[in-house]
Amino acid sequence: MKLQGKHIIDASDLSVDELNLIIDLALEMKANTEKFSNLCKGKILATLFYEPSTRTRLSFESAMLRMGGAIIGFSDAETSSVKKGENIADTIRVLNNYAHIIVMRHPREGAPLLASQYSTIPVINGGDGGHQHPTQTLTDLLTIKYYKNDIKDIKIAICGDLLFGRSVHSLLKTLSRYPNTEFVLISPSELRIPYYLKNDIMKKHNVRILETTSLEEYMDYVNVLYMTRIQKERFFSEDEYIKLKGSYVLTPEKLKYARKDLLLMHPLPRVNEIDYEVDKDPRAKYFEQASLGVFARMALMALLLGRDY
Ligand code: CP
Repeated sequence: MKLQGKHIIDASDLSVDELNLIIDLALEMKANTEKFSNLCKGKILATLFYEPSTRTRLSFESAMLRMGGAIIGFSDAETSSVKKGENIADTIRVLNNYAHIIVMRHPREGAPLLASQYSTIPVINGGDGGHQHPTQTLTDLLTIKYYKNDIKDIKIAICGDLLFGRSVHSLLKTLSRYPNTEFVLISPSELRIPYYLKNDIMKKHNVRILETTSLEEYMDYVNVLYMTRIQKERFFSEDEYIKLKGSYVLTPEKLKYARKDLLLMHPLPRVNEIDYEVDKDPRAKYFEQASLGVFARMALMALLLGRDY
């Protein structure tokens, strides 16, 4: 298995064996972070963020710094030469001389794929529009492995904006390749998962899919609950967003019906879909999930850079 030099644009760019390799290395890095403190000495990560981010950009930067590497980049394209009209192809050609690996977030679906076509160094998709967010999925898989010891027999309810949520799309594509996954998809009818995802990808893997508009209906059935926010920035009209934004709010009362071994996740940021009181519940692991994201990204970058560990 050789990941060196690969671009990671879509969740399906990594086989299950490769995903497991990254997760196992991430666990080792979490357990013994100091051992890897010089692994990427001399390597430079470029973070090109054309769209806001807290976790993805800063966890990538933290990951590279923890491995002894350096970081350059921008968190606001308005401060780059994009403002003067420079296109992605030219930006990437230039960055190939400044860095060894790139992570890019962009509001347009396909922008990181385009970037990868002009790059001789690895390009990682840090989220493109409402399409894909593969390193969030690595973080999610690592969280499941960390708290459930294995990624099999997962009965996962995914609740919220399944139409525009790129974290959801990547997770669905990936978990459907793991053994005995069952999905409970909870959304308003306007925000159901895209047709291509349900039919072309998930059914190919013979996964069980239950769909509902009710957050409570399968609460006592699932062993993972993955809450998501309604993606305000992807709506065409403010009125439509306002109509749907309060569709689901997880409260301690609703969680009373959940299993004792429930793993409660959220890619964050949270808006109002999880009551702050839920944070005290020992099953709520979304902040730990965000913290594990650093180790997932450390492992991914080390392997893409071909670092010997
Ligand atoms: N989960 C996630 O992608 O968070 P950010 O938008 O803050 O990067």
